[in-house]
Amino acid sequence: MKIDGTPYRSIWREQDGSRWGVVKVIDQRWLPHELRIEALGDRAAFATAIRDMWVRGAPLIGATAAYGVAVQMAADPSDASLDETWEVLHATRPTAINLRWALDDLRSRLRPLPENARAAAAFARADAICDEDVEMNRRIGEHGLALIREIAARKKPGEPVRILTHCNAGWPATVDWGTATSPIYHAVEAGIPVHVFVDETRPRNQGAQLTAWELNKAGVPHDLVTDNAGGHLMQHGEVDLVIVGTDRTTANGDVCNKIGTYLKALAARANNVPFYVALPSPTIDWTVRDGLREIPIEERAPEEVTHVQGRDETGRIVQVQVSPDGTGARNPAFDVTPAHLVTGLITERGICEASAEGLAGLFPDRAPRG
Ligand code: MRU
Repeated sequence: MKIDGTPYRSIWREQDGSRWGVVKVIDQRWLPHELRIEALGDRAAFATAIRDMWVRGAPLIGATAAYGVAVQMAADPSDASLDETWEVLHATRPTAINLRWALDDLRSRLRPLPENARAAAAFARADAICDEDVEMNRRIGEHGLALIREIAARKKPGEPVRILTHCNAGWPATVDWGTATSPIYHAVEAGIPVHVFVDETRPRNQGAQLTAWELNKAGVPHDLVTDNAGGHLMQHGEVDLVIVGTDRTTANGDVCNKIGTYLKALAARANNVPFYVALPSPTIDWTVRDGLREIPIEERAPEEVTHVQGRDETGRIVQVQVSPDGTGARNPAFDVTPAHLVTGLITERGICEASAEGLAGLFPDRAPRG
């Protein structure tokens, strides 16, 4: 996607005269106010970038971890180093399954190789994971476009299709295109008028800070809404479709995503608004069936709830406290939307019902038998 006319991915490898080049990311903590680009030089830097949310969003977390393995293999390609890197990076964030998927993928490919071949293979695979992510998200966009087209066909000419989204499942959460935003970008390219309602997504405000930023840069009409406004908008017929992303979807179609997604799904069901989840297949955890009991939900620092970050009148980015001294906070970062509340899953292979049968129909090569 473009930022002020310059095409960007959220992570990339840049040639700098060294053997493997340098891996760069956008440090998303400062968006939308500052575009800071950081080079990640060693395993510790990769772990910090994932844990402290310089990068975030399930697919980007996976891609970053893949490069983290590659950078470590260039420093020390031993078996012990490979195993330790799996542990160190895996411990950074617990919920998005793309992290484990990428680490397992790299380790299983590197383990059989001689040590002196591991760095090259790891960088090549990390590059490929990025390219595959872009392609999967492009296809998600094509499949999601069909849904938007259907809704547009029922409207008066020029009337926008109104889509609500939660958190940031846009291009900064992936390598490019985004998952939930890809159908929107494809609709815009196809000339279909759209209007996006962007949930602010407390506590980290990924909607206000990232989704609003990217839609703004892309010129997609949108309004920022408080997290509490979605139900009201749906009751009043102002939302045609909800599309969200996911950090982990189970083999039976339960969807774990940013905290607050479940409430949007309940409101959507109560108001007959279709609720779709867009996901590339590495976000499916085929080993889990019961999302509510089996998915580890990240608990983050209470300060994310008691404080908010923004730009002050002097242009400085600051944190301000919104609650009284002495009030504690709970901060579960994700919730699980049971499959029965999900209208459909938009994947790179097409759209399916959120069920074991639906997913197995699209992914017979990966779904567990029985
Ligand atoms: O805590 P975050 O910002 O990493 O959470 C991200 C989300 O919940 C996204 O919606 C999800 O990863 C899907 S991203 C394509």
